[in-house]
Amino acid sequence: MRTTDHAALLALWQSTPGVSVRDADGYEAVSRYLDRNPGLSFVAEDDGRIVGGIMAGHDGRRGYLQHLLVAESHRGQGIGRQLVERCTAQLAALGIHKSHIDVLSGNEPALQFWQAMGWQVRSDIQRLSFIAGGGSNV
Ligand SMILES: CC(C)(COP(=O)(O)OP(=O)(O)OC[C@H]1O[C@@H](n2cnc3c(N)ncnc32)[C@H](O)[C@@H]1OP(=O)(O)O)[C@@H](O)C(=O)NCCC(=O)NCCS
Repeated sequence: MRTTDHAALLALWQSTPGVSVRDADGYEAVSRYLDRNPGLSFVAEDDGRIVGGIMAGHDGRRGYLQHLLVAESHRGQGIGRQLVERCTAQLAALGIHKSHIDVLSGNEPALQFWQAMGWQVRSDIQRLSFIAGGGSNV
């Protein structure tokens, strides 16, 4: 994934239920993310058109995947699997062997996908978030 992919990705993120788009998904923020996590985020292209993507980063201990999507026209062909496996392979190469993904409540197809990929639903953890300075779409 490159910063030049941002406009196409944003359009896909915004039109795909199951992907939550925030202020943190603007061009500058995504550029910063890609600079900070080089070689960990990927797009899938068909004939030069972006048809999928995934972002990944790490904090030195755990990996974090986000914004996985495959265009409806291209689902069921193993593209989602390839995108995830690229991320986890690159993270493993950096010594990061455990990663997390947040799935929006009610996104059952995504839950099915992640479990088919071998990811475990956690019942022992609840995520809490804090927004410094407030803001409603951070
Ligand atoms: C989730 C998503 C990325 C899957 O992409 P995809 O390219 O269709 O997935 P793949 O073809 O690589 O499927 C990989 C595995 O997951 C399984 N799978 C995929 N979608 C599934 C579904 N809806 N229900 C059950 N299993 C599913 C496949 O059967 C396959 O299993 P297999 O390899 O054992 O045969 C795609 O449906 C999508 O973009 N959804 C909307 C956005 C979204 O919800 N993203 C996730 C945010 S957490």
